Amino acid sequence: MVLFKVSSVETTPFDGQKPGTSGLRKKVKVFKQPKYLENFVQSTFNALGADKVRGATLVVSGDGRYYSKDAIQIIIKMAAANGVRCIWVGQNGLLSTPAISAVIRERVGADGSKANGAFILTASHNPGGPHEDFGIKYNMENGGPAPEGITDKIFENTKTIKEYLIAEGLPDVDISTIGVTSFAGPEGQFDVDVFDSASDYVKLMKSIFDFQSIQKLLTSPKFTFCYDALHGVAGAYAKRIFVEELGADESSLLNCVPKEDFGGGHPDPNLTYAKELVARMGLSKTKSEQQPPEFGAAADGDADRNMILGKRFFVTPSDSVAIIAANAVQAIPYFSGGLKGVARSMPTSAALDVVAKHLNLKFFEVPTGWKFFGNLMDAGMCSVCGEESFGTGSDHIREKDGIWAVLAWLSILAYKNKDNLGEEKLVSVEDIVRQHWATYGRHYYTRYDYENVDAGGAKELMAHLVKLQSSLDEVNKIIKGIRSDVSNVVNADEFEYKDPVDGSISKHQGIRYLFEDGSRLVFRLSGTGSEGATIRLYVEQYEKDSSKIGRDSQEALAPLVEVARKLSKMQEFTGRSAPTVIT
Ligand code: G6P
Ligand code: ZN
Repeated sequence: MVLFKVSSVETTPFDGQKPGTSGLRKKVKVFKQPKYLENFVQSTFNALGADKVRGATLVVSGDGRYYSKDAIQIIIKMAAANGVRCIWVGQNGLLSTPAISAVIRERVGADGSKANGAFILTASHNPGGPHEDFGIKYNMENGGPAPEGITDKIFENTKTIKEYLIAEGLPDVDISTIGVTSFAGPEGQFDVDVFDSASDYVKLMKSIFDFQSIQKLLTSPKFTFCYDALHGVAGAYAKRIFVEELGADESSLLNCVPKEDFGGGHPDPNLTYAKELVARMGLSKTKSEQQPPEFGAAADGDADRNMILGKRFFVTPSDSVAIIAANAVQAIPYFSGGLKGVARSMPTSAALDVVAKHLNLKFFEVPTGWKFFGNLMDAGMCSVCGEESFGTGSDHIREKDGIWAVLAWLSILAYKNKDNLGEEKLVSVEDIVRQHWATYGRHYYTRYDYENVDAGGAKELMAHLVKLQSSLDEVNKIIKGIRSDVSNVVNADEFEYKDPVDGSISKHQGIRYLFEDGSRLVFRLSGTGSEGATIRLYVEQYEKDSSKIGRDSQEALAPLVEVARKLSKMQEFTGRSAPTVIT
């Protein structure tokens, strides 16, 4: 057994190591500065405390983006020096964010041990490569992101750090080969366990969904399917699940080879960035001769996000979670006993609220960020939840789950077509959504993103909107001057949330303008960007009249969008006459 020693290395703090909504995300060149990653990792160990770190089993892996392999070796050596007993690594350092959550909760090591937490190496949907983003976040024993109490402590530690511990004499570990390698340190044995990235996750999915009925759908000649991993880590799961387990044709996989730079693309599953899939599904402006598949889906870099498409049809994430909730009990065995409750983030449309009311389910509106759902789930209050930002999931883990969402939709399709794989026309994704609107009404919804705007300008815009809220009369006067065909604002505030489980209060979670007819305008600053500021504008309008639910959403929302742009003085504060991305 190779022996290692522990050495303490002197260091000085770096500015700006504050973990955002989902960990610390910076350009690779920032992370590559000597001691930058080391400072953050040691600050995390110190925040957890020696009693939690010594003897622990920790997972270290991620979406495989550029710099991950170097980072994994550094973290292994630091973990060994800090007294960690065992490090689990997905083969080649690949594990999706949902798979890590599953591994923490489900996997049992060769010696019977369970994981205590994980370092997830990802910047999610941000591009990767030497000039792009890297990221690191810590997840806890429940499989969910560290709560603010811990991330605040980490940040405080980064400001005062003076030394970090690293193992000397511990060689780089081969993470491409499955197996356990053991080393001997001053406190005893230290193991690195490299395991298959997909098996634990596949096992969990099989315990949730009826794979047989999904397979029947996927192998039916009437059904066609396409999955785009955007060269993220989802590719490592897509082949195993959709092709090997469920019988889809290999040609239905697009960009499913994980790449360090995501093939130069932006691994965010939306109508702008998932270009190839969007074209295949018949949704791009240039019409193709080919018949689009019946169902299409995409994932982001770390496979926690999803986009669901039908043939020439886009399902908004807000509708997606509402439709999953409405059908879960019938279509998904895991939920056959009923739903404990449902939840959405504040900017997500109220489509889920209507389902909750109809089905008499507990309902929660939480701030943006998955951790708020995790608390509800740990307390047994929520089964299904989702966000407008292409995140959908359930209490099977404590992260959102891109492949789970696809399997949920395939389950609903399989259920709706269970007696219908003969001659009749397939009940399509579009049919399911339109039926849902006919039952519950439609929430027209769009999001405008103004990316990488000047941070000062963005702050001023937000301050301006908060100030306006002090007089609704004034607001309504301005609005009537812009468009006379929108209803009155009856309430306006900054969203604040009191967690029903731990009583913690989260303030300044987005600026809301609520209209008399149920429409909403929401303004928020993104918490996940790595450069400048990103302003998000969320626009929503509820339509109950079934004769009016078939309109184009951009057209239906145009009056509210115009009001939002002018009321916020978007162009004056940001210099932008158009958003970067519309979803
Ligand atoms: C991450 C979180 C999500 C959240 C999203 C918001 O993906 O996991 O829970 O909805 O960030 O991003 P934003 O850029 O809007 O802060
Ligand atoms: Zn992600």
